[in-house]
Amino acid sequence: MHSFHYQNGSLHCEEVDLNQVADVHGTPAYVYSANTIRDHYRRLDQAMAGVNHGIEYAVKANSNLSVLKLLVEEGSGFDIVSGGELRRVIEAGGDAGKCTFAGVGKTREEIEYALQQGIYCFNAESEEEVAFINQVAGEMGVKAPVAFRVNPNVDAKTHKYISTGKSENKFGVDFVGIEAAYDRAASLPHVTLKGLQMHIGSQLTSLQPFVEAVEKVTPLALSLKSAYGIEFFSIGGGVGIVYDPALESGKPEWWAAQEEEHKPLTIEQYVAGVLPTLEKTGLKILVEPGRYIVGNAGVMLTRCLYEKKGSAKTFRIVDAGMNDLIRPALYQGHHDIVPLNEPRDAAMTQVDVVGPICETGDFFCQNADLPDFSPGEAIALMSAGAYGFVMASNYNSRGLPVEILVDGSDAKVVRPRQSLDDILASEKAVL
Ligand code: LLP
Repeated sequence: MHSFHYQNGSLHCEEVDLNQVADVHGTPAYVYSANTIRDHYRRLDQAMAGVNHGIEYAVKANSNLSVLKLLVEEGSGFDIVSGGELRRVIEAGGDAGKCTFAGVGKTREEIEYALQQGIYCFNAESEEEVAFINQVAGEMGVKAPVAFRVNPNVDAKTHKYISTGKSENKFGVDFVGIEAAYDRAASLPHVTLKGLQMHIGSQLTSLQPFVEAVEKVTPLALSLKSAYGIEFFSIGGGVGIVYDPALESGKPEWWAAQEEEHKPLTIEQYVAGVLPTLEKTGLKILVEPGRYIVGNAGVMLTRCLYEKKGSAKTFRIVDAGMNDLIRPALYQGHHDIVPLNEPRDAAMTQVDVVGPICETGDFFCQNADLPDFSPGEAIALMSAGAYGFVMASNYNSRGLPVEILVDGSDAKVVRPRQSLDDILASEKAVL
């Protein structure tokens, strides 16, 4: 589902006019569609209805408290990677008992906090970590629920910075030898072996790597079930979304509103591809989607400040920079650029859309044919709901953008724009 469309000449999110949002709340601004998030969650839940399953939304993709609350209301569990994310889930009314805790570098404070709150399971990424969790749990007089993350050594065929399931990646415990790791962990007095987890990478747009990983690891899950009575197998997240509908479809249109037509891997195809193997295990199957749930549910609005015609190129300079949305700079990520005022004709101009940051990498597109928009007009960077605001920074002493949640005709500020006073509040000039 995609809740962004033109109405009366202006881009809308659900029933809310984004030009009005930009006028009232300023730019840059992140806008999320509550109904898209609900729809994505429900579609996945529905597709998995045939097996005992749990959805552990990957909080890192978008951790706004209102987004989390919305997912709490849908019944979601949460995959967290820090004490901070656990705190967010609890603040949003979520149940720690439905949280899995991932990450290669959990600290003592985080482990203690997670044990105090009673999380469902630590997904441990090394034997050293399990030994430390055992020690901390022993000191607290409790038993810690633990699963190992297995690294299945499968090529996810995605950008190298978001590929996690190969032996050369830092994640998980090598597939070869993991049973011995379970054997050793079984002798630790303060841990309970609860499950098995894997996650091969993010933004996967084909089914094959998922199927390959599931087929490779399911026999291990079965063997751990009979040896240690584990109760769950988490297959991680990673389902990709369409960032560039025009490219996917091979059509010349600069933007296609119908996401469904161009989706390379639907959630139903994903589930249908992996479930037949998984259901034979009789284990509870967990999934940890992030981008699939929120990616296409959000946009970032930014206003064009200047058009600068250089000798080689035309630059449209906007008021958002790489500090607000870093995906293009970090992963060569593509976000479709859509003017908020519906273009009156099919005319295109080749431009670079760039931000105000003092870095050459601060661009949202280069040599792209875009419909016309002028200084003063606002544009939307599409599919910015995942790994957008959460990766924003104060680089160049710029305040973090405002976040707005749209639900039908209602638009609420769910995090105000960060002021310069906010940025400077805790800092002192001491010399
Ligand atoms: N589970 C684990 C253990 C993960 O590490 C991740 C993402 C997920 C689940 C959720 O993956 P998803 O369903 O969102 O693909 N910042 C990058 C993406 C980093 C993904 C990190 N791990 C980007 O903007 O593309």
